Amino acid sequence: MVVAGLSGCGKSTLCFCLCGAIRHNRDGVLAGEVLLNGKNVRELRAAGLALEVGMVFQDPDTQLFSPTVEDEIAFAPENLCLPPGRIRERVEHVLDLLGIAALREANPYRLSGGEKHLVALAAVLALDPPVLLLDEVMSSLDSAGRKKVAAVLERLRGAGKTIIAVEHDLEAVDFADRLMVMEKGALLRYGRTETLLADRDFMGEKLWHSWN
Ligand SMILES: Nc1ncnc2c1ncn2[C@@H]1O[C@H](COP(=O)(O)OP(=O)(O)OP(=O)(O)O)[C@@H](O)[C@H]1O
Ligand SMILES: [Mg+2]
Repeated sequence: MVVAGLSGCGKSTLCFCLCGAIRHNRDGVLAGEVLLNGKNVRELRAAGLALEVGMVFQDPDTQLFSPTVEDEIAFAPENLCLPPGRIRERVEHVLDLLGIAALREANPYRLSGGEKHLVALAAVLALDPPVLLLDEVMSSLDSAGRKKVAAVLERLRGAGKTIIAVEHDLEAVDFADRLMVMEKGALLRYGRTETLLADRDFMGEKLWHSWN
């Protein structure tokens, strides 16, 4: 599913609610319940949450903290006390999957914005959660990176993952079957992508262009 809407409408905030960051480690008032596969995110502990949902933040600098790319990716599996051989396997798998093996020794802070997003995505994929949240990841990538990530996401979706991607450029995620449009912190429209895009009255040339 793609989440779209004008800047400031609450897309990132929605993601922070879905991944349990509000109120686990971010301030905010959360009314109602967020259920992930029937589990209330408020009641899950950090390790349990990490197995249910992974988020790639809009600003990767607030997410990355390890001295090398490999350490960054291995951090969560290590915290879950996976056997070292299994951790190695997962790190190699995601480095390869996203085409960033050459960056393994690099300091994440020295990478470009797109590379940082790829590293954050790799770290999320290393835990293989059923739900993935990507907050404007495509917009920071070059066209080769976009193609690579789109192919990976399409494959993951085929394998049964739920993928929620915030994007302004809907073409970057044209494989998404559902589109959610937000306005002023709330849901404006939700439906099949092709149905909403075909509704010219709703999409309106002005709104459409303001997203791009
Ligand atoms: N449902 C809501 N209730 C109250 N405040 C909200 C809500 N949704 C968002 N906000 C506030 O609005 C501001 C902008 O929200 P947010 O960063 O989530 O927007 P965004 O759509 O991700 O914007 P951008 O496209 O620029 O990344 C934040 O300060 C956030 O706290
Ligand atoms: Mg945002």
